Amino acid sequence: MASQHADTDSTMSGEKVNTNIITLTRFLTEEQTKHKEATGDFTLLCHALQFSFKSIAYYIRRSTLINLTGLAGSANITGDDQKKLDVISNDLFIEAMRSSGKCAVLVSEEEDNVIFFNDGKDARYAVACDPIDGSSNLDAGVSVGTIFAIHKLPEGSKGRKEDILKPGSEQIAAGFTMYGASAQLVITMKGGSVNGFTLDNGLGEFILTHPDMRMPRSRAIYSVNEGNSLYWEENVKSYFNSLKEPQENGKPYSARYIGSMVADAYRTLLYGGIFAYPADKKSPKGKLRILYECAPMAMVFENAGGQAVDSKMTRMLDIVPEDIHDKAGIFMGSYDEVEKVKAFHK
Ligand code: AHG
Ligand code: MN
Ligand code: MN
Repeated sequence: MASQHADTDSTMSGEKVNTNIITLTRFLTEEQTKHKEATGDFTLLCHALQFSFKSIAYYIRRSTLINLTGLAGSANITGDDQKKLDVISNDLFIEAMRSSGKCAVLVSEEEDNVIFFNDGKDARYAVACDPIDGSSNLDAGVSVGTIFAIHKLPEGSKGRKEDILKPGSEQIAAGFTMYGASAQLVITMKGGSVNGFTLDNGLGEFILTHPDMRMPRSRAIYSVNEGNSLYWEENVKSYFNSLKEPQENGKPYSARYIGSMVADAYRTLLYGGIFAYPADKKSPKGKLRILYECAPMAMVFENAGGQAVDSKMTRMLDIVPEDIHDKAGIFMGSYDEVEKVKAFHK
């Protein structure tokens, strides 16, 4: 007999099978129908994005088997040696954006200059990406990720560099995929909630597993490259030293640092705490790049109830980059944890 509740769990030999799966594709379609004015272009752009995440996940998983570990023999504009997977993931991402026909402007960590796709006549979006974040961890099989930010071109623009040199608060969507034990995609729209999806390798689909993610208000975990402490400003030193003192419960904070911002940020989003890469005497502008590392993460954190600021304690989403590869110091995490950092900078 047919189930009266086809959209609820089915029971087969005692095991519950969820027959009402929300895939990313379904989620995007449902979001689109909420906006009467939507043309479907954004949805198509997101389909191209999710294809690039699936492909990158696939090559990372197979890299040791098919000789994709190690260096490519080149460097990017920031001076980082490019890994083979940095180059391949960048190429996959660029092709996905080009072929979507919806992306007019693309900024990538691995490209010195802005890429313009002039053939997409009705392309109305500008995208910034870090194809592989945490690439120094790749060959050790440690989690890495892809970060993305989406801007909408102003009315009448066919796509110019200025269309992406915008504050993060103007991103229409942002997020990342972390390639860990499974691939986790986190996406948020401007002013919206944060939703997390897990790639089901069998189905080849991202499944909504973490709806409406809200981060804990506080948590005694800090994540920073403490090896840089020699170069830190005094208030940064005092702040991190204070975390090593006994707190109200008599215990100091725990330290957790993976060295892949996506992985450190994903843990911070789920468990709470703080992640920081402060500007310091060695890197006065910080290390992480505004357009494709800091701003998209900041939007995810704010929309999940957290905060993100730069080393001057300015809201990260208000910072306007002057150049596509501009950097900033960053402190982001649980709301109350970022309040503590601010108190040390007053
Ligand atoms: P990328 O791999 O895109 O160059 O980014 C690396 C970043 C980020 O993932 C991480 O938080 C940070 O660099 C780690 O830097 P340190 O090795 O200086 O700690
Ligand atoms: Mn990065
Ligand atoms: Mn990178």
